[in-house]
Amino acid sequence: MQSALHPASHGAELMSSFAWLLFVGGGAIFLFVMGLAVYAVVSRPRAVSVRRWIVGGGLVFPAIVLTALFFHSADISTALAHDEAPNAMKIEVVGKRWWWEVRYTSPDGSSHTVLANELRLPVGCVADITLTTDDVIHSFWVPALAGKVDMIPGHRNRLVVHANREGVYRGQCAEFCGGQHAQMAFQVVVESAETFRKWLQHESGPAVEAATSTTQLGREVFMQSGCATCHAIRGTSASGRLGPDLTHVGSRRTLAAGMLDNHAGTMEGWIADSQRLKPGNLMPAMNVMPAHELRALATYLASLQ
Ligand code: CUA
Repeated sequence: MQSALHPASHGAELMSSFAWLLFVGGGAIFLFVMGLAVYAVVSRPRAVSVRRWIVGGGLVFPAIVLTALFFHSADISTALAHDEAPNAMKIEVVGKRWWWEVRYTSPDGSSHTVLANELRLPVGCVADITLTTDDVIHSFWVPALAGKVDMIPGHRNRLVVHANREGVYRGQCAEFCGGQHAQMAFQVVVESAETFRKWLQHESGPAVEAATSTTQLGREVFMQSGCATCHAIRGTSASGRLGPDLTHVGSRRTLAAGMLDNHAGTMEGWIADSQRLKPGNLMPAMNVMPAHELRALATYLASLQ
């Protein structure tokens, strides 16, 4: 679901009801004016007070309507500010070429859990999201939860989200950031507090051990083919920071920032030919790798639940 017409947060609901008020109000005024125009054409000509129409319809009416809207929008701003909670959950999202790094900070600020292209939020809780970028301007946009907020080099922008409906909401980069801007998507999963707590606890732990001969071969290929230069898998010696953290990559819903469903088959295709799937991304195509090694590598990564 990627729609501002199906709000799933307190802020988005306020904005949506305000938008409907403007739409319905504007529509009613439009119909009234059109009705007057039709009446003027079909009725018999008669004298009217021009002054009264201009002062009433052109000055008094807009002044009343615009003043009321001004105070109503000020009310909404106040209500949005109330969403800010001092003990809100701290999340940092960093725009990359072309994917999203997501970092959850523990309440005492001492540890981080790093993942990519997926946010999870407990329903009913307030999340305080810091938005930055590693390269050019991106824009963080989940229409069902909040308006767009730009990610600007050298700045730290903030977005406070109070999600109040469980579901999966699609987000999309909303600022042109290069050739694959349109393929820079992500998902936000809003789930019960208990499910979220278990997920975060699992996500902050190390990767599972390679248990079968195939996944053991896959891990070996990973360590020897240069993958670990750019990717980290916590619990192993791989600690690269250039590409997405792969500690629990197998548990994510999508691959390549929302482009592909996530399973061993798509993983294999992505590793073999990421440059054809997403030209210009920073991962080199590994299409010189022997097929059985490629298969083992994909199986290993898919096993990292
Ligand atoms: Cu990132 Cu457009």
